[in-house]
Amino acid sequence: MFLKVSGVILAAGEGTRLKVREPKPLVSLLGRKLLDYSIKELDLFLLDCSSKSHLAVVVGHEKDRVEKHLKEIMKVLNTNIYSAYQELQKGTADALKSYLNKVKESDNMDCIIVICSDTPLISKKHIQELFSKLIGDNLDAVVATFKLDNPTGYGRIITGEKGFDIIEEKDVNSEQRKIKEVNSGVYIFKKEYLYKHINLIESMNNSKEFYLTDMFKKGRNIGSVLFSDGNIFKGVNTLEQLNSVEFLMREKIYDHFVEQGVRFQDKNSVYIDDTVTIEKNVYIESGVHLKGKTIIKENSIISCGSIIKDSQIEKEVVIKPYCVIDRCHIFSQASVGPFAHLRPETKIGESSKVGNFVEMKKTQIDKNVKISHLSYVGDADIGENTNIGCGFITCNYDGESKNKTIIGKDSFIGSDSQMIAPVTLGDRCYVASGSTISKDLEDDDFAIARSRQEIKKGCAKKFLKNKK
Ligand code: UD1
Ligand code: MG
Repeated sequence: MFLKVSGVILAAGEGTRLKVREPKPLVSLLGRKLLDYSIKELDLFLLDCSSKSHLAVVVGHEKDRVEKHLKEIMKVLNTNIYSAYQELQKGTADALKSYLNKVKESDNMDCIIVICSDTPLISKKHIQELFSKLIGDNLDAVVATFKLDNPTGYGRIITGEKGFDIIEEKDVNSEQRKIKEVNSGVYIFKKEYLYKHINLIESMNNSKEFYLTDMFKKGRNIGSVLFSDGNIFKGVNTLEQLNSVEFLMREKIYDHFVEQGVRFQDKNSVYIDDTVTIEKNVYIESGVHLKGKTIIKENSIISCGSIIKDSQIEKEVVIKPYCVIDRCHIFSQASVGPFAHLRPETKIGESSKVGNFVEMKKTQIDKNVKISHLSYVGDADIGENTNIGCGFITCNYDGESKNKTIIGKDSFIGSDSQMIAPVTLGDRCYVASGSTISKDLEDDDFAIARSRQEIKKGCAKKFLKNKK
């Protein structure tokens, strides 16, 4: 299909019904902004069209913030997105006119797809279906429709002998109000037809707005595709709708991963961003949150209650219950937790073990390292096969700056030891339990740094409550 197609997303509206601080297109939803979902799917669709095709977003309310975000998205998708400014929000037809006036390339298009920025569940395949109808039936315009038991808030499809009208909720009469087939807000127009009619649209309706839905009139060569699953087109106008769209998006993400061979203990308690990658044979227990650019490779287990953000988990890793992991890289066959907190820029080497109540920050540990219990490890490098005992602390902060602890390979650090950073220990060092190490050690050194024990024979009774 080598038609030149533009995909236009209408995102200028104020979104007042949503009552959130961010402009509606920038509301967060499972790792992306609301607007990103339509951009992503339209972009996928346009890849199958002529390379002269393009994407555009109509901005208005909070224009600068939306445009700033568009710049970031362009980098991620490596594609250009035109931005067209609609100065006053005078309705969806006026919004599309802003695009036609601003983006000169619109003149060269064969077809124009229009999507609202607040319907994030639409996929490429739905756009494809609508497009096939336009081309297959040689129509001038098509709209995606669906049926709702309670169609409140949506434009109604009023069918005639040929064609149909779309009448907005605010303008329907009592009979039309009962109609259950509604407008999804997704349209495709042939360019000539769009140019011929869009300037004739008037604002003589109860909102005094220029409605794009007025492109559809009885008697014209127009069509619709009635989708059986209306959820795809659920719009986000209110907080309640945002919640139900989030619920449906979670289902969509879950279905995608199950298809990839990921197993879930309890899908209802798991939150996974749309930006996450999970490979086959991964097992995800209940209450897990996976966020941002997290990647989880084959055969790993993520146990209940763990929260992982922007991290890479290699093959066959076990994350035990209730870990919090942020911007870390965990190599294959390592195990972490339960109750570990791995903070940004931490690397856990292959087959290493980080146990319960361990906090780590900006620390690299090589392979086969063990830090099994109750430790704080910050700004440290630890070589392979080193064992760190219970209750280990890197004293990395001197009140002014953060200092580094370096421990070589094959070393043994006894329990309850502290490293007063900056400090460097060579390979094969042995630190006796309870030591406070403030001087560097060379390879093969032994260090003990604790006060000597005194024993006073039989003196305990002096201190015991029951002195008898
Ligand atoms: C719209 C449709 C309605 C459909 C519903 C589906 C119109 C007139 N109505 O209603 O038939 O059933 O979507 O979800 O199109 N926008 C602008 N500039 C404006 C006004 C709106 O860019 O001047 C943008 C908004 O940012 C939004 C989209 O257009 O992304 C739709 O506007 P919205 O107010 O959400 O329309 P609905 O009431 O949902
Ligand atoms: Mg809407």
